[in-house]
Amino acid sequence: MNRSKIKMVASSLLVLAAAAYLSVDRGQGRAQAQPGQEHHIGPSMAVVQEIFNHNCLRCHRAASPAASLDLSPEGAYQQLVGRPSIQAPGLMRVQPGAPGDSYLLLKISEGQQHLERGGRGRRMPLGAPPLDPTQIRLVEEWIMQGAAR
Ligand code: HEC
Repeated sequence: MNRSKIKMVASSLLVLAAAAYLSVDRGQGRAQAQPGQEHHIGPSMAVVQEIFNHNCLRCHRAASPAASLDLSPEGAYQQLVGRPSIQAPGLMRVQPGAPGDSYLLLKISEGQQHLERGGRGRRMPLGAPPLDPTQIRLVEEWIMQGAAR
């Protein structure tokens, strides 16, 4: 394995560990409030934010972020969840519970899925290899489970 591969694997493992930790932690919290609901908890925004921090902030942050999409910890949730895509008319960037209708997920998926849904531009992250399948899966799960903050 070369250095960057090792780095990639290590960061995927970190994300997975964070996901496991968070779901256990939140599961317990929810179990007290609503018994029986704990199996429906998915990854939290914190896990997804970690992916953005390492792969997207270079372009999607600061005063004039690419595609008017600020993915910094301060901006990401507000700019994604229930907000319309500027590229694909009629699609939300994140439609809670509907990953297939969420432009964010289409835009990071392989196979140009965003173009099939009326979007444009390149697959993200721009000019870099695709995200690890585990990371894409986490984003999908987060949206599927309701895109909690
Ligand atoms: C090298 C700069 C760069 C990086 C890194 C990058 N983006 Fe982008 N992003 C752009 C540019 C430029 C556009 C507009 C042109 C295009 O879509 O090709 C864009 C457009 C988008 C859009 C469309 C927004 C809309 O409302 O229609 C989404 C979603 C997006 N990026 C998500 C991401 C995510 C998630 C990451 C990290 C995994 C990422 N980008 C990494 C530059 C970048």
